Amino acid sequence: MTAIAVIGAQWGDEGKGKIAHLLAQDADWAVRFNGGTNAGHTVVVGEGQGSQTDSPSEFKFHLIPSGALHPHCAGVLANGMVIEPFSLAQEYEQLKQALGREPRLYISERAHLILPYHPIVERLEGAKSELDTTARGIGPAYQDKVARRGLRVGDLLHPERFCEKLKRNVERLLALYPGNDELARIRPDALADEILRVAEGFRSGITHTAELLHEALDRGETVLFEGAQGTLLDIDFGTYPYVTSSHATVGGVGVGAGVSPRRLDRVIGVLKAYTTRVGAGPFPTEETGKIGERLRGTGANPWDEFGTTTGRPRRCGWLDLVALRYAARINDFTELALMKLDVLTGLKELKVAVAYRCEGETIERFPPDAETLGRCEPIYEALPGWSEDIRGCRTWRELPGNAQEYVKFVEQAVGVPVALISVGRSFEETIWR
Ligand code: IMP
Repeated sequence: MTAIAVIGAQWGDEGKGKIAHLLAQDADWAVRFNGGTNAGHTVVVGEGQGSQTDSPSEFKFHLIPSGALHPHCAGVLANGMVIEPFSLAQEYEQLKQALGREPRLYISERAHLILPYHPIVERLEGAKSELDTTARGIGPAYQDKVARRGLRVGDLLHPERFCEKLKRNVERLLALYPGNDELARIRPDALADEILRVAEGFRSGITHTAELLHEALDRGETVLFEGAQGTLLDIDFGTYPYVTSSHATVGGVGVGAGVSPRRLDRVIGVLKAYTTRVGAGPFPTEETGKIGERLRGTGANPWDEFGTTTGRPRRCGWLDLVALRYAARINDFTELALMKLDVLTGLKELKVAVAYRCEGETIERFPPDAETLGRCEPIYEALPGWSEDIRGCRTWRELPGNAQEYVKFVEQAVGVPVALISVGRSFEETIWR
């Protein structure tokens, strides 16, 4: 039995999808435990990857875990998620098409639903403009959950109850925002009918997912927990308020899937060889000039730094070891997966932040508040770059000396071994150490 968690060590978009897809080759279950349609990953399924389809095809998923694309791997959308039913119905169909049969996809009765009024509320509350959220209604759906008025996936199994709760929530919003046209256009009865109809597509998968996972672990099966977003976007441990509304850290496995982190054998921290962030909030090592542009790319390549979900250009900068040491502490990473090392090829000098300077003081700990972090200036060490194309490297020995030194510097500073290095977009462009 192995239970593995794949956790973002930065501000999301670290390349967790690639790692999860690789690890799921040996997994029986792939589980999402936090977030919703704010996440996104593109998976290319084709010959040689165990698919039932004949030619490679590209799939974009926002809800379904990457591992579920493997025919032997069941997918779970656990209770910590917020699920948009129309998107789920669509992704369920896509998965069915990819697998060439009915998917084994289980959805927690306890997961909350994102309903069409949630993105409207998000805009009305200003979260979209102030925090630069993904505008998918994530925050308002979690607000309803915490306020104990949310609709859950399990409510879909009880149409009358579902209709009644939906009506109550719409009425509440109409009273809060009188005269709002978008909200006034919502017809709760018709909306409930429509949602109940699309939910028929995935209804058979609605169940107690925590129990399924406990039974799988007891049988000795391998379970892969796929974190969405990253540690610095965690609602508690991220750069609040510039965070998402769920637990993107390893603790999310406990509260979001009902499996104690004590059962995890491996906690893999996924990081890029540099840093990116989408949306507002402090980012000490951000490079707004030429280096930032160089790291971002032009968008011509799908691997360039533009969001999978929203297409927004990502803010880019140097690697931040202060933030990474913090992420390693919070998550107790057993190993690191270092992604996109190839992007650094050709840069003469590579900077890494080893500490911050804040109001004349040198600090080595990640500050708990966004305001202080916003005043921090990075203290850099510079390492020599390399010019050789490393995309063809498949072993540690094949990497140029300076690339090896860069990796060793990171693992020593973070105190966690780098077990995997990604040198390109495809699954083969990977070095296992
Ligand atoms: P929300 O999750 O849509 O509420 O957005 C809150 C913050 O998290 C914003 O800064 C988003 O850009 C960021 N965010 C949410 N999901 C992702 C993701 O999957 N990758 C990177 N950033 C994300």
